[in-house]
Amino acid sequence: MTAYPYETHDYDVVVVGAGGAGLRATLGMAEQGLRTACVTKVFPTRSHTVAAQGGIAASLGNMGPDSWQWHMYDTVKGSDWLGDTDAMEYLAREAPKAVYELEHYGVPFSRTEEGKIYQRPFGGHTTEYGEGPPVQRTCAAADRTGHAILHTLYGQSLKQKAEFFIEYFALDLIITDGACTGVVAWKLDDGTIHVFNAKMVVLATGGYGRAYFSATSAHTCTGDGGGMAARAGLPLQDMEFVQFHPTGIYGSGCLITEGARGEGGYLTNSNGERFMERYAPTYKDLASRDVVSRCMTIEIREGRGVGADGDHIHLHLNHLPPETLHERLPGISESAKIFAGVDVTKEPIPVLPTVHYNMGGIPTNYWGEVLAPTKDNPDAVFPGLMAVGEAGCASVHGANRLGSNSLIDLVVFGRAAAIRAGEIVNPKDRNQPVNIAEVDRCLSRFDALRHAKGTVPTADLRLEMQKTMQSDAAVFRTDKTLAEGVEKMAGVAAKMDDLKVTDRSLIWNSDLMETLELTNLMPNALATIVAAEARKESRGAHAHEDYPNRDDANWRKHSLAYVDGAKVSLAYRPVHLEPLTKPEEGGIDLKKIAPKARVY
Ligand code: FUM
Repeated sequence: MTAYPYETHDYDVVVVGAGGAGLRATLGMAEQGLRTACVTKVFPTRSHTVAAQGGIAASLGNMGPDSWQWHMYDTVKGSDWLGDTDAMEYLAREAPKAVYELEHYGVPFSRTEEGKIYQRPFGGHTTEYGEGPPVQRTCAAADRTGHAILHTLYGQSLKQKAEFFIEYFALDLIITDGACTGVVAWKLDDGTIHVFNAKMVVLATGGYGRAYFSATSAHTCTGDGGGMAARAGLPLQDMEFVQFHPTGIYGSGCLITEGARGEGGYLTNSNGERFMERYAPTYKDLASRDVVSRCMTIEIREGRGVGADGDHIHLHLNHLPPETLHERLPGISESAKIFAGVDVTKEPIPVLPTVHYNMGGIPTNYWGEVLAPTKDNPDAVFPGLMAVGEAGCASVHGANRLGSNSLIDLVVFGRAAAIRAGEIVNPKDRNQPVNIAEVDRCLSRFDALRHAKGTVPTADLRLEMQKTMQSDAAVFRTDKTLAEGVEKMAGVAAKMDDLKVTDRSLIWNSDLMETLELTNLMPNALATIVAAEARKESRGAHAHEDYPNRDDANWRKHSLAYVDGAKVSLAYRPVHLEPLTKPEEGGIDLKKIAPKARVY
């Protein structure tokens, strides 16, 4: 029996996380009359979506011709043919609807002269199935699009009477007879424990960028959903694919939106050369971001980096009209001043590829239902559990995500999860009784960490993990770096049993909170490096120098990493190749999305 008393809350649905995906799911659930709680470790409008700058992709065609089929083609190519075709179709097809819904909810999008939603170019978004010029598909609210979306969705969720449990840290899932029946949480400001007993739990906890040393992600991006799923015996999918954004500010890692290049910005090396013209003659600085990050890294490695140590690249915006900077890029103009001391109207911004996004996550179908693949059924659904947003892997981004496909992923799949829950959750059904044994198990683990009396401070171990991941699972990888990384990470993970927590308090205990977060970061990091070491090809963000080519015959498959303590076992599941809509019914011509060389 646990020594911690707890309060029990009964809901139809509990959403964990209040970023774009969590709030869109919360709103959709509440709109349908499901009793919905949203449990979040930070105030909703401080979730990391608030930092999303450049925009949200949808083929509205406000700035010129566009179609969902072109958007789907770009997403397939961007994914380097690892995305699931049904999910990618769903994303591209539903995107315009999801954006118009946001507009009606009140998102203050920037406008064209005629009052339509303003759209800007972003990397890898093209016309005519990659044969035409770049398309302006990314709907923007200046360079603060995530901020605008998050505030609107929070307001709408409150209006629909969703209930928020703010600054509650989710500890673990409650699993009863092979289904999820709730989640246990620790309330940070008064130390009380809360059991959320629910018919459906939705993990919307974001990515795990903080497994790396330098990331655009907030310090809160600690892969909490992935950690909980791994502890419940569920796999993590395609974790080897970690996106480096080309333009993190050198030194701080703070994001400079791709929208800056969309508005006409360009990169130069120490010779002042616009080197992207050499690597991607058609789309240049607007090639897909894995491509641009690799080219920047090559320039630096070959001695053409800028700065005293030749270790970064310049991003120029100083040629753009001041009114463009003021109207379209005010946020990054300020960030460049604060974090690099640069006046963008006069000088280039020093930038470097920086960890930005996790393509991998908890495997789901395109309704957000979590998958627990079996030998006979790779698409078997794990009842009672959904995952959306960066925490999940639907998989629409495959091996590399296109810029601005993240915000649309959040709202399309947050919305899809709500639609599906409306079909399978019956508000009239009674909730199961609380699974006391599971709550005890969770709280015993919590108590053990709270009283951890080892020798390794949490911050030291976290730093060791971050440095290892940064050096050994980087933009370019080799058999040697990955093998060393796997070995080092095994050693790092083994030290989890020797953690030292000095603060025993239950109230505002950041030492304990960061330790719990580290127990979530660690399985994500382990899955990443082990799956990367195993994948003997180059695809999207996984650039393997010993296997420079994509190998569809052997590797067009999703990796599944099962993490148990420091041990990782791998399995694979097939990529979905079937679209939802047949070509004769208006779906994409399958010949258009057949694998081919990925050039921009
Ligand atoms: O560059 C950006 O504004 C980032 C957008 C994204 O990751 O989708």
